[in-house]
Amino acid sequence: MSAYVGAIDQGTTGTRFMVFDHDGRVVASAYETHEQSYPEPGWVEHDPVEIWENTQRVMVDALASADLDAAALDAIGVTNQRETTVLWDAHTGEPVYDAVVWQDRRTTERVEELDADGWHDYIRATTGLEPDSYFSGTKVEWLLDNADPIKLQRTRPEDVRDRAEDGDVLFGTMDSWLVYNLTGAHVTDVTNASRTMLYDIHAGEWDDDLLAELRVPGAMLPEVRPSSDADYYGHTDPDGFLGARVPVAGALGDQQAALFGQTCFAAGDAKNTYGTGSFMLLNTGAEAVESDHGLLTTVAFQRSGDPVQYALEGSVFVTGAAIEWLADVGLIEDARETATLARSVDSTDGVYVVPAFTGLGAPHWDQRARGTIVGMTRGTRREHVVRATLEAIAYQTRDVVEAMEADAGVDIDELRVDGGAVKNNFLCRLQAGVLGSRIVRPEVDETTALGAAYAAGLATGYWESVEELRANWRVDRAFDPDEDGVDGDWDARYDRWGDAVERAKHWAVE
Ligand code: G3P
Repeated sequence: MSAYVGAIDQGTTGTRFMVFDHDGRVVASAYETHEQSYPEPGWVEHDPVEIWENTQRVMVDALASADLDAAALDAIGVTNQRETTVLWDAHTGEPVYDAVVWQDRRTTERVEELDADGWHDYIRATTGLEPDSYFSGTKVEWLLDNADPIKLQRTRPEDVRDRAEDGDVLFGTMDSWLVYNLTGAHVTDVTNASRTMLYDIHAGEWDDDLLAELRVPGAMLPEVRPSSDADYYGHTDPDGFLGARVPVAGALGDQQAALFGQTCFAAGDAKNTYGTGSFMLLNTGAEAVESDHGLLTTVAFQRSGDPVQYALEGSVFVTGAAIEWLADVGLIEDARETATLARSVDSTDGVYVVPAFTGLGAPHWDQRARGTIVGMTRGTRREHVVRATLEAIAYQTRDVVEAMEADAGVDIDELRVDGGAVKNNFLCRLQAGVLGSRIVRPEVDETTALGAAYAAGLATGYWESVEELRANWRVDRAFDPDEDGVDGDWDARYDRWGDAVERAKHWAVE
């Protein structure tokens, strides 16, 4: 057994490689951001080649920073921004177009058409998802209809759809794209497949009716594999950039990876991750629980040889990205300022920020909602807007917690949190206050990468059981609802938040 396990965390804003030891402690880490392009209002694209180049660089840099040889890695796991859609040439490996990112809204009308044509209930029942342009299905269709290979000079100028029918153009989410580049295998894991709106989560196979409706050829689809796969997806090339043959043995969408990294292996375990957006997942075990309150039913993970485990998910599209937006418009210089600014006022003075920049996800599902600020007066200062933005993160989480409690019939009185924004103690306190629940932050807050490492290391036998992993989970700090600076009548404020959300809905009419 080699000494460590590595994990690639390919997120919306950047790519990280982390190396963990047997105790789940971080041994090395490197990170690089990539460019975000917004070619038209509502469109968001990434360059898959830039992402692959960054991935190689962060792997090499992280290992070098700790003076490690890649041969010291027992396994590599992959975790990724989900739903983001890549099409590439099976012969040259070159993308036929930039990746269409999960936040992208270009297929809004197509989804409305699906709804109008009576697909809503079928999609919910089969895929567990709410029909939305968030998911990959309509993005693949758009790419097959619109990818302009000549403009991008990345592939031969034949028709992309014809070539996909022949298996010459392949589809994958970011996990597939990276595993393909690392090992040559065209695979995806079952959690990522469950986010495509093309996959039957109950039967465990691509759904022929949805493939036919969206005209997605079966020949372009990756093979769906367990998230932790004892047969391994493949190995890295010893003559390639890493210089070692390492098994790539696990992959999970980033939110499922965080659930795994938080060791939420049992039904009833829940976590909330604060990244670009916030995604709360509740493990429901081998039962796929249907939601009556606007949540998604999705695959939590699968270990080879075991049945698929499911989760209920509350997907909130914009939380950390709202802090980035505050910096973009010059209200803050740096995310670290937000706590000080927010604490410098007692309240938002009636201001509510609804950061529905890319529509609203759970539990509202409104593709046409847009960002809204209400309640400003002549006395409103940037401190109020900053505080209202932090409060919006906490209110959006309450929206999904309430839905989850109603769907699952449980009381969530303690919530494990992770992700970049939980470094902000004020936000954690605020979240505890708004929810009236205890918030628990683990020692390793990069649980996404940790979860991917766990999936890969369980597959190779680096870790023998989930019990070993549970023993690695250590509390950094817990936050209780009645902490200083966040007292107040949260129920009344939360009601008012609901009114503000109504004002953000259905805004983008064209
Ligand atoms: O579903 C989208 C989600 O996977 C993105 O996560 O952490 O890249 O914002 P993140």
